[in-house]
Amino acid sequence: MEGEPVNVNEFQELARQALPKMYYDFFSGGAEDQYTLKENVEAFRRITFRPRILVDVSRINLSTTVLGYKISAPIMVAPTGMHKLAHPEGEIATARAAAASNTIMVLSSVSSCTIEEVASSCNAIRFFQLYVHKNRDVAAQLVQRAERNGYKAIVLTVDAPMLGRREADIKNKMIAPPLPPLKNIEGIVSTEVDNDEGSILEGFAKGALDASLCWRDIGWLRSITNLPILIKGVLTREDAIKATEVGVAGIVVSNHGARQLDYTPATITVLEEVVHAVGGKVPVFLDGGVRRGTDVFKALALGAQAILIGRPVVYGLAAKGEYGVRKVIHMLKDERSPWHCLAVLV
Ligand code: FNR
Repeated sequence: MEGEPVNVNEFQELARQALPKMYYDFFSGGAEDQYTLKENVEAFRRITFRPRILVDVSRINLSTTVLGYKISAPIMVAPTGMHKLAHPEGEIATARAAAASNTIMVLSSVSSCTIEEVASSCNAIRFFQLYVHKNRDVAAQLVQRAERNGYKAIVLTVDAPMLGRREADIKNKMIAPPLPPLKNIEGIVSTEVDNDEGSILEGFAKGALDASLCWRDIGWLRSITNLPILIKGVLTREDAIKATEVGVAGIVVSNHGARQLDYTPATITVLEEVVHAVGGKVPVFLDGGVRRGTDVFKALALGAQAILIGRPVVYGLAAKGEYGVRKVIHMLKDERSPWHCLAVLV
């Protein structure tokens, strides 16, 4: 590619060139047939605007608030694991970019920098994403560390009772050195794989993803933290209603970037259903397939308070480190024409 990347897709191409195939496959891939992976993006493309004309849009303010925190635009950093596979500075570079962009970063449970390292590296507003471990004490420790280190919310991921089948990772085995350790859980949870077919992630998932997690456990989580809890992985009105009943502070419509259950709908296609069911009781967020500023706008128009980006951040990180992540966020902000602010969806 010639010159500087001008959009997220060009960052993806740069990341592909920069990374060993195994790592690029890990970041970019989805589960099984990757139907949902394609749909997450394609479904956005099928939505078009009804732009209205001759309205004064000379002043546009993209800022919004999330759980009371003001951010520069409704674009947050989704939790994605193992950033040191993308760049030696790992999540620290990502967090600094989030801080510079004046937005929120959600740190993954399976980060390659610790909760503490990320907290002390910058003043970004940080949320902590939790995978609930089979051993609840481990989960409780992670939550307490997040709380102690100034993270402002717990993002409970509920769509990973077990690891999705990502066939590229299985083929690549994802165990070749040098894989950075999963720092937050190093020494607490075994990531050993018991045969050479497995990946480090399968090793992690076996010990650490609790397939028995269910609704009553939200009560347990609420009992061990004062932080607000967002629930990530809601795709239906039924679950959205339940989530509001158990007292979460927000809902993230997500299919885990199509890495878990294949043939779930594209997130943008179920957003309205969830927003309608929630009826304004708590804010609704969305991730999955956001690649353009117009996608952000579409999600807002359909009722999201803000969106999160997963792969775009990793592609920026892989291609150009902290600067690349800043650039990706900036691009999405910049890809807003005044028209967008007026559009009415068909
Ligand atoms: C993820 N995602 C994810 N989610 C989570 O709750 N905890 C995690 O550790 C991870 N790890 C992870 C790694 C990688 C490489 C990807 C691509 C995704 C899912 C993530 O938070 C988010 O839901 C999706 O990435 C959103 O889709 P896009 O923006 O990647 O299309």
